[in-house]
Amino acid sequence: MHENKDTPPAPPLFTWEFAADPYPAYAWLREHAPVHRTALPSGVEAWLVTRYADARQALADQRLSKNPAHHSESAHGKGKVGIPGERSANLMTHLLNIDPPDHTRLRRLVSKAFTPRRVAEFAPRVQELTDQLIDAFIEKGEADLIHEFAFPLPIYAICDLLGVPREDQDDFRDWAGMMIRHGGGPRGGVARSVKKMRGYLAELIHRKREELGEGGDDDLISGLIRASDHGEHLTENEAAAMAFILLFAGFETTVNLIGNGVYALLRNPGERERLQRALAEGDESLLATGVEELLRYDGPVELATWRFATEPITLGGQRIAAGDPVLVVLAAADRDPERFAEPDTLDLSRRDNQHLGYGHGIHYCLGAPLARLEGQAALATLLRRLPDLRLAADPEELRWRGGLIMRGLRTLPVEFTARI
Ligand code: HEM
Repeated sequence: MHENKDTPPAPPLFTWEFAADPYPAYAWLREHAPVHRTALPSGVEAWLVTRYADARQALADQRLSKNPAHHSESAHGKGKVGIPGERSANLMTHLLNIDPPDHTRLRRLVSKAFTPRRVAEFAPRVQELTDQLIDAFIEKGEADLIHEFAFPLPIYAICDLLGVPREDQDDFRDWAGMMIRHGGGPRGGVARSVKKMRGYLAELIHRKREELGEGGDDDLISGLIRASDHGEHLTENEAAAMAFILLFAGFETTVNLIGNGVYALLRNPGERERLQRALAEGDESLLATGVEELLRYDGPVELATWRFATEPITLGGQRIAAGDPVLVVLAAADRDPERFAEPDTLDLSRRDNQHLGYGHGIHYCLGAPLARLEGQAALATLLRRLPDLRLAADPEELRWRGGLIMRGLRTLPVEFTARI
């Protein structure tokens, strides 16, 4: 089961070839080294967990802390784990970096403001944004679906939801663009963008607090300020970190859901045709199961965010020392043949599809209803309005973004019959 002298050496991880198709390497790890210690490109050593059962267990294990202070290398590994720029901008106290009881309190407060109802009411605006973005390129007969569609949609959506005024949203587009372009590369520009975003959010939160009760305050930031639990409120600093994590967690993930999703459909014409036919007949059920399947098949979050053992633990038969980082490889777990029949096949009507694309346990994705709404609207509208959509590049030449946690394309050139 584990690596021994008869097992061939582990395939290379985190290279460009690996980024284009990590699944064969993950299949190897699942079989030969399901809990595998490796050096990451940053130099930090971490355990990769690749089997579904181990992954699910690790995601729910309270002995694995989200607080980077538990990292045994936290003194000299400073800045190498977590979100680039978050330390310098004082944004550390957000949901993905904390454990109960703080996590429980903050999650309860944000859940009072970020409700399924608020998301459902937002559906017409998401549809409007989707159509506007398509209107802007439909006359050309070609587009880069990442830059012209998948990238702007979630940033405008989350800005609208938070209550960032429309005239400031292009600043967010620029800052987010910097984060997504350089997420796995130089950190200076990213840290500056994070700082600017943080400064802007702090000011916005302050202003919204002053203006509370004066009307026009039904946005999510005002909701966060108003939310209270047993008389407790978020501090301005907590509200800023919360707004930031909503932006950060809800942005590149959704870009990749749309990008990876469209790409998978274009590469699986039979499934794409099935979906297109169902939509034409007014049947949306395949759209709902289809987006879940796309999340399982080639999801936006390749590795769940950092976890650190607070005490020695055994996972998948492997001893993990206190202070060691553990990275749960969602992309590997979701292709585990022990859990999913024919895991490498895209089946949009797959039943029994409890994938880990949104995580599991107390950190389960808070934005899943919004992600589903955006993913379904984006895919359905593209297929309806651009019925002959096709790839305008050799798949071999498409580049995937570097970076550890997320998985997504840099560009997705497409062509279709132009409409005036
Ligand atoms: C957490 C995936 C969209 C907000 C997570 C986690 C995953 C995930 C895997 C858990 C990470 C971990 O345990 O280490 C996704 C995917 C998305 C998506 C695949 C899109 C397709 C969104 C959106 C928002 C959002 C749109 C909000 C606007 C969050 C937040 C957390 C989270 C706040 C932290 C929850 C906590 O720690 O309690 N997401 N996400 N996500 N997500 Fe998402």
